[in-house]
Amino acid sequence: MRISVTLLQYEHGIVRQSIDVLAEVVKGGRALEKKADVTELMSFILDYLDRFHHAKEEECFFPQVVNYFPQFKEDVDGIYDDHVEARELLETAITALDGEDWEVFKARSMDLVRHMTAHVEKEENHIFPTVDEDLPIEVDEAMNQCYQDFLRNFGEEYYQKTEMFANDIQDRLLGPGFFDKSIY
Ligand SMILES: [Fe+2]
Ligand SMILES: [Fe+2]
Repeated sequence: MRISVTLLQYEHGIVRQSIDVLAEVVKGGRALEKKADVTELMSFILDYLDRFHHAKEEECFFPQVVNYFPQFKEDVDGIYDDHVEARELLETAITALDGEDWEVFKARSMDLVRHMTAHVEKEENHIFPTVDEDLPIEVDEAMNQCYQDFLRNFGEEYYQKTEMFANDIQDRLLGPGFFDKSIY
C-alpha cells in the first residue's frame, strides 16, 4: 500500500459522489428548478476536480509514475488529454447553465459523467495497482510531501470542508440519504 495512491483513491470518492449527484439531477430533469444549487455543484466540481485533484496528479503523481514505470508513458499522455477534456466539458456546461441553455447543459453534463467514470476507472484499474505494489517507499514519501505542499494553496481543512460540502449539496439536490436509499 502506498499513501500517494490511497489519497488519490479517497479523492476519487468525492469526485464520484459529485458526478453521481450531477447525473441524477440531469436525469431527473431538476436542473431548471434548482439552478442556484446546480451552479454551486458545478463550481465545486470545477474547483475540486480540475484545480485540485487533476492539478495535483499532474504536479506530484504522474511525473514520478513515468520516471519509475516508463511502460505507462503513453497512458499518462492520454490521462493528461483526459484532464483537458474534462475541463473543457465543465466550462462548456457551466456557460450553458449560466445562459439557461438546458439542452447543451444536459448533453455536456452527461458527456462529463461518462468521461470521468471511464477516466477514474483507467487510473484505478490500470495504473494504481502497479504503483501501489512497486513504487519505492522513499518516492512515495516524496510524493506525499508534494501533496502536502500543494494542499496548502487550498486553505485550512480543505479535505474536511470539501467532504462536508459534497454531502450537503447532495442532500440539497437529491434529498437526505439518496444513495443509501437506492442501495438498500
Ligand atoms: Fe486523473
Ligand atoms: Fe484521478
